[in-house]
Amino acid sequence: MGQRLLEVQGLTTVFDGPAGPATAVDGVDLTLDRGGVLAVVGESGCGKTVLSLSILGLVSPPGRVTAGRALLDGVDILALPEGERRTIRGRRASMIFQEPMTALNPVLTIGDQVSEPLRVHAGASRAEALAAAEAMLGRVGLPEPHRRLAGYPHELSGGQRQRVMIAMALMLSPELLIADEPTTALDVTVQGQILELMLDLARDAGTAILLVTHNLGVVAQTADDVAVMYAGRVVERAPVAAFFQGPAHPYAQGLLASLPRVDAPGRRLSPIPGTVPSLAALPAGCHFHPRCPHAFEPCSRQTPPLIALSGGRQARCWLHAS
Ligand SMILES: Nc1ncnc2c1ncn2[C@@H]1O[C@H](COP(=O)(O)OP(=O)(O)OP(=O)(O)O)[C@@H](O)[C@H]1O
Ligand SMILES: [Mg+2]
Repeated sequence: MGQRLLEVQGLTTVFDGPAGPATAVDGVDLTLDRGGVLAVVGESGCGKTVLSLSILGLVSPPGRVTAGRALLDGVDILALPEGERRTIRGRRASMIFQEPMTALNPVLTIGDQVSEPLRVHAGASRAEALAAAEAMLGRVGLPEPHRRLAGYPHELSGGQRQRVMIAMALMLSPELLIADEPTTALDVTVQGQILELMLDLARDAGTAILLVTHNLGVVAQTADDVAVMYAGRVVERAPVAAFFQGPAHPYAQGLLASLPRVDAPGRRLSPIPGTVPSLAALPAGCHFHPRCPHAFEPCSRQTPPLIALSGGRQARCWLHAS
């Protein structure tokens, strides 16, 4: 067991709407050790992005965190004043967003954006910061990094923008990186390459990663632990080997069974008949029960707790209640 870096406890995020608050993240508990990799998987709409944003205090209205804590080295990020949170996000924790264009500023040069963390948080001069940015852009495989410093995001391809995002996020060797499907916008042939690059750079820097991905092949190769989300809840947590040997929750089993090959590149998960419910119509009890091949009497009435099982697995499923 490594040293605990991140501990998320009971994190709950709602979106206020005309019909009242809708719960997108519902009492999520997670842990991530220093230098470790925790993969978060689940179909589209399960709450992975909202969870990622919530951990770093980045949810904006109509969304709000209504309960829970996100402890970084024992300090609750969410209880800090926004100024201190921003410092943590600059120095100790970074995020790579699902859609790079929303995270890059279209009117600032690449050089200014990638060098900003060094100037703002490490007190580097402009020249020093630009030199470091150029070196980092080279490491992430951006062609002609020197020339790119003066360029703008719209001049880059999707893959190049994603490389710039990775460079920015890793500029200060953060302790924590939250990478929200960092490659979904890309061609499958570059996806694996860029993920691998990100993971290598993070490993070199001792950075722990919370990796949101649809790619179970990547999970199998890189993660230490897996958390499976369904409709805002973590339904299974497990060490990666135990997970691939035999997931305990029927939803997790469905995700795995849907893969013809575990290394199927870039495949989006669409495993089990039916779809993730909308937040306005979450089924009672276990949210998965209408799609579950094993649903029985308690499932539609009561939410199961996370139940500890062999191999370090935990599953939120009545099948495992003794
Ligand atoms: N700004 C918002 N306002 C209202 N509801 C939202 C908002 N953002 C997200 N949601 C809802 O929260 C739920 C979780 O969304 P989220 O984006 O976290 O899913 P996801 O697991 O990241 O999906 P994907 O794999 O497609 O990225 C969804 O039901 C979504 O409709
Ligand atoms: Mg998402």
